[in-house]
This record gives sequence, C-alpha cells and structure tokens, in this order.
Amino acid sequence: MMTIEDFVAGMPKAENHIHQDGATSPQSALVLAQKHQMSLPFRTPEEADSLFRYQNLGEFIRIIDSVNAVIQTEDDIVYLLIELGRDAARQNIRYREIMLANDFHERMGLSLDGQMRGFVRGKEAAKALFGVEFACIPEIDRTMDPKKSAEYPERLAPWREKANIVAIGLESAEAGFPAHLHRQAFQNARAMGYPITSHAGEACGAESIWDSLESIGSTRIDHGVRAVEDPALMEYLAKHRILLTVCPHSNLSLQVFPDMEHHSIVQLMQAGIPVSINSDDPPFFRADLNKNYVDVVRTFRLDKKQLLAIAENAFVYSYAPQNVIASAVRELHVYFETHDYTL
Ligand code: ADE
Ligand code: ZN
Repeated sequence: MMTIEDFVAGMPKAENHIHQDGATSPQSALVLAQKHQMSLPFRTPEEADSLFRYQNLGEFIRIIDSVNAVIQTEDDIVYLLIELGRDAARQNIRYREIMLANDFHERMGLSLDGQMRGFVRGKEAAKALFGVEFACIPEIDRTMDPKKSAEYPERLAPWREKANIVAIGLESAEAGFPAHLHRQAFQNARAMGYPITSHAGEACGAESIWDSLESIGSTRIDHGVRAVEDPALMEYLAKHRILLTVCPHSNLSLQVFPDMEHHSIVQLMQAGIPVSINSDDPPFFRADLNKNYVDVVRTFRLDKKQLLAIAENAFVYSYAPQNVIASAVRELHVYFETHDYTL
C-alpha cells in the first residue's frame, strides 16, 4: 500500500492545461530580473508567497503580468521551458500541452518569431535532457484587438510543425470580453485544421461556455467548472465528449469556489463529462500537478477507478498522436494494476 502522495507521484501523467508564462517560479523570475536589470514586485520567494493571493481573475492577471515582464528574450523562453521540462520529469509528466501568451510577449517587446524560436529550442532541450514531450497551444487574449487576433493563425503557420502547435486557445479576462469578439480568428484557425480550446466558465458562468462552443467552435474547454450552473449545458458537454481541463487549486486561488469541498469536479464527472486535472499556473497558485491530484482525491475520497478515469482522460483527450496515447494508456493501466493507495 502506498500513500496517495507516492501513488500520484509515480503515476505516468499528461497535462492539458499549463501556461508557459504561468510556470515562471519566483526564483526564475529573480534570475531574469537580475539579468535584465529590472525590478519585480517582490525581492525574495518569501515575499512572492505573500503577494500571490488574489480576490479574482483580474487581480491575478495584473500580478502575473507584472512578474512575466522580465521575460524579454528568446533565450529567456528557452530557460523557462527547460525548467518546465525538469519539473515535468520530477512529477513523471510525460506529455505537456503548454499555452503560450503570444500577444503578452509581443507587448513586452519579444517578437513572435523570437518567442517561437525560443519555444522550439526549449522543447527540443526538454526532450533531450528529460525525455519529456511538449506541445504548443498559442493563446488568443480575449482583451486584444480582434483585427490583430484574426492574423495570428496565419502568422503562426511557419512554426506549426517545428513547435508542435496542436490547437489554438483563448485566455485572459473573461468578463466583458466574450469569445465571439474573436470569431474571425477562430474561423481562420479552424480553416487551417486546428482544434479550438477555450478558457471559459471560470470568472463567468454557463453563457460564456455556450459562447465558446457556439461562436468559436471550441471542442475542449479550459476550466468550464461553472457548467454545473446549467443542466442543459452539462448534458451537452457529456453528449459531445467535451473535455474540461479542470485546475482545482487555480479555482480556489481565484475564489471560484470557497474550498475544495465545494469544487464542482465530482458533479461534472457524475454527469458523464470527461475531465482532466491540471495546474494552470503552478507557482502562482502554490500547487504543482501532483498536489492538484492529491488534494482532489483526498477531499472526495476518490477510488482507483475514478482516479484512473481522470488520469486516462488527460491522455485520451489530448492532442497527442494516437499511437502515443495508446501506449501511455497501456502503461497507466499496468501502473493501476500493480499499485494501490490508502487515504
Ligand atoms: N491565463 C493564465 N491563467 C489563466 C486563467 N486561469 N484564466 C484565464 N487566463 C489565464
Ligand atoms: Zn489557464
């Protein structure tokens, strides 16, 4: 018998929802700030720990952006992706779908080509050093000019294969910036054959999820945890097998739910909706992927069958090639047949 901590740590994992800029640790940010002679809103990791508390999504975005302003060059992206690879190996995460905030980095003065060259170099280094596979999900920022967002799919075309771009996403401030503002961007992305995944149902409710499904053609929803407010939506998500990439500690940090007991993940599972567990922006929410799993399993006393379903969804509903998915799922089943945990 293992502790749930050891069981989760040893389990082969995929992650569907983690932001490249959301993975900057306070230590890494301090390294980059020193390198570029820039200041940060904290001077030590301890100060960062007390700064990283938020009332809502808007406050979080202000803080994360003030930290990630230190990402200035292609080499900075390489450095942070290697850290992400090291962290993936530590947690036995085999495959990570990494969201890239293209518009944010451009606003900070890092060109799209510089970002993408950095992503490619970092991805290849993470594979060579740690054996970890990365995929890239460029994100449209809800607050950006729709004329500019419409151009992203084409601007990213030269990087599609080398960066392993598997989908186009939508992120940032949900309230006041509906998905349909960016209809053209996603129509262009779908015409190029990209699947669409969209942050929704986090700061806003069911109508925002419906908008992501109906106006931009999302086939995966990032968060989506407020779907429980609309039974017809729950039925739709289950029927159409729409994966929700749930980020439990992110939701607690951003006050979507008051505590883990009130999180909707089990209600979503019971409605037959596929869910996976993800870390979103781990240092900013002070919880890595393992902690997100452990705290859900412990809070809801999930049995092995329930945990296996979640861990399997992260592979099955990923954008990885079918042969990669099939062998990872086989390995996951062997792990569950040969290991046990107690709560
Ligand atoms: N960007 C980084 N994390 C995010 C989140 N949780 N919601 C929306 N945009 C984000
Ligand atoms: Zn996110």
